[in-house]
Parts: sequence; structure tokens; C-alpha cells
Amino acid sequence: MDHEITVKISRKSTNYPIKVGSGALAAVPRWVNGKSGQRHQKIFLISNKRVFGFYGDSLLKELDRSSFDTYIHLIGDGERFKDLRTIGQLLDAFAQAGLKRSDLILALGGGVVGDAAGFAASVYQRGIPVVQIPTTLVSMVDSSVGGKTGVNLSFGKNLAGTFSQPDAVFVDICLLSTLPRRELNAGAYEVLKHGILSGGKLFSASVDTLQVIKKKGVKEVLTKDVLREQMNALIAEQIRFKARVVRGDEMEDPARTDPRSRKILNLGHTFGHALEKVTNYRYLKHGEAVGYGLLFAAELSKKLELLDKNTLELLNDVVHRVGVLPPIKHIDRDELLNAFQSDKKSSPNGINWVVLKDIGKPLILSEKDIGRTAISHTLRKFVS
Ligand code: NAD
Ligand code: GLY
Repeated sequence: MDHEITVKISRKSTNYPIKVGSGALAAVPRWVNGKSGQRHQKIFLISNKRVFGFYGDSLLKELDRSSFDTYIHLIGDGERFKDLRTIGQLLDAFAQAGLKRSDLILALGGGVVGDAAGFAASVYQRGIPVVQIPTTLVSMVDSSVGGKTGVNLSFGKNLAGTFSQPDAVFVDICLLSTLPRRELNAGAYEVLKHGILSGGKLFSASVDTLQVIKKKGVKEVLTKDVLREQMNALIAEQIRFKARVVRGDEMEDPARTDPRSRKILNLGHTFGHALEKVTNYRYLKHGEAVGYGLLFAAELSKKLELLDKNTLELLNDVVHRVGVLPPIKHIDRDELLNAFQSDKKSSPNGINWVVLKDIGKPLILSEKDIGRTAISHTLRKFVS
């Protein structure tokens, strides 16, 4: 070899603000207006019909029309629309609108809108800025933060995607007032996931606040100052927890298996993704699949003699207290075992399973460490 050149790249700073609070939606147009430059810019809003119907107007009407041209693109509603076809349609629509890298995309919706919009934005002209405005509990505490974007392939969940951080995130919990109960519960399982991973105060705050929401209903929580503040504080703490993990391992380094690696955020997801896949993304909400995943991870951890009986019971209790999960007994065990193989967390040593030594003490184990028998036996508790 005659020459060796090392390309040293100092990565563009990916710091970004996350605004959490009732009224955050109204702050978006103000923030965008403040970004208007010399030249006319384009704002491209991505949402779905349902969410746009609730919140589209209030978002767009305060935009300074003398500085911005606005475009609206509504994608299909549901997990099955988080696919490459939607991405193709979005990219064509960007090109048709003549979007440039100095323009801005707004993603208004749940995780489906956010993941698809973030992915399309990250590949169009090699990256165009995107602002996430999450409207579900799942997207507020999880998907809008951390820069994982992507879509499902027929081979499995989230198999095509990028790591690409948003330019800003605006989390307005008042938007949850229109969210159906089942979707709210689905988000509760992701809230529990962070609580279980973190342990300590975040675990108790998550469990307590979810119980308040369950007893009073989200509308009452949002109209009572003290309760709304409790909920705002929980969402902010949840985001802080996720942000800390992401900061330490932004791209989910495949070689890392330590308990601070981003992989821990996949607690419950290997089982959850398999459940979603074998039911064609139509039967379970993503959060519900994660709910089952948490139960599975706890059961597997007990089977491996990592977790004690009392903690297993506590974990079962906090998950079941959220609500009744749709039954899965009818699902075929072999189909699930097959679906595990396509899980993107596969590594040379097989799938990485996130298990628990205790609440707040996750552990990453490879399929080899665990052994197929333990997995297969644990599965028997859940499906036929
Ligand atoms: P979703 O986006 O499908 O939204 C759920 C339903 O609620 C939809 O029908 C939607 O139209 C409706 N909705 C959304 N906001 C509403 C509101 N305020 N009022 C009334 N209806 C509303 O589902 P989700 O649970 O938000 O997200 C799930 C997706 O997020 C999955 O694809 C999952 O893989 C992904 N996800 C990604 C990450 C990540 O890090 N990127 C993390 C967690 C989940
Ligand atoms: N939702 C898992 C992650 O962001 O890594």
C-alpha cells in the first residue's frame, strides 16, 4: 500500500431542544417563524388524516405565510403504512414540492408518522431538517426522541432505517386528550419499559402516575393543574432517561453489550416485534406488543434464575394493572420462533435478549448464553 489517509470527521453537533409542556404545540409556529431567513422557505407537514383533523389547523394557522410556503402530505393511518411504499410517496412529494435542504419538515403524529417522516427526511437530498411533534404517549416518551427512524419490511419490523436526529421536538401532553384509551394504554407499556430499566424514582413515578391516569381518566388529569403537572414531570423525566441512554450510545454500537448500551431500550422488543410480525401488524398495537414483551422478559429472567419470584410478581402486577391485553394464546409458537430470527437485533451470536437482574438492572445476553430451550419453555407460558 503506497498511501494511507485517515479521514477525520468532526461530526456536526446533534444537540437539539425538546420542549415539554402544555402549550408546546403553539410554540412550534413561533419557533419556525423565528427561523425564517432571507429567502422564502418551504414547510412540509407530514401527518395522517385523523391527527391532522384534530391539530393541523392550529399548527399551520400561526405560521408566517409571508416567509413560508406550506405543503401538507397525509399518510395512511396504521402500522401497515410504515413501509417503503409510503417512503416512496413521501420522497416523490418532496421532490414535486421542490424541497431543498434549507427547508423544513414537520412530523405531526404518533410513532408511525414520526418514524416514516424521519426516515424520508433523512434520505431526501441526504438529509433535510425535521421537527417532531409527537401526538401519542408512545411517540412522546420514546419514538420522537433519539433519532431512530425507519419502516418495516415484509421480513420484519424496522428493518430499513437510519439514525438521524431531529432538529427539535415539541411535546404537548394536552394532545393526549383526543387519544383513544387503547392507544393511551399502549403508550403506558413504553412508559413502564423506561421505568423498569431505570428503576428508582422513575419506576415509582411511572407506576403511580399511570394509576392516576387510569383512575381519573386523561381528560381530568389534563384539566387539573396538579395532576397535569405530575404528568408533565413524568413525561419530561422519561425523555431525560431516554436521552441519557442515547447520548451514551447514539448509534447502538453492535459490539456493546454493557448495561448502558442503547440496546437496553429494546427490553421487551424481540418478543414484541415477533408478535407484531406474525399478526401482520394489525392485531396488536405496538405498545401492547411491548407490554407482552415486558412480561416475557421478566418470565425469561426468572427462568434463568436472574430475577427473584417477588420481583417477577411485581413486574407482572404493574404490567397487568395498565389494562387487559388482547389474547395471544392462539398464536403459533414455531411462527414466533421463526420471527425472532428476523429481529434486527440479531448479532453474530444470535439475538441479543434484554433480561433483568432486578428492576433498574438490565442485562444483555446472546441467544447462545440463554439457550433455545429456555426461550422455547418460556414461550409455552404465553402461546400454544
Ligand atoms: P401510531 O402512530 O399508529 O398512532 C396510534 C393511533 O393513534 C393512530 O391511529 C393515530 O392516527 C392515532 N392518533 C395519534 N395521535 C392522536 C391524537 N392525539 N388523538 C387521537 N388519535 C391520535 O402508533 P404509536 O403507538 O404512536 O407508534 C408506534 C410506532 O412507533 C411503531 O411503528 C413503533 O415501531 C414506533 N416506535 C419507534 C421508536 C423509535 O425509537 N423510533 C420507539 C418506539 C416506537
Ligand atoms: N426505542 C428504542 C430506541 O430508541 O433505541
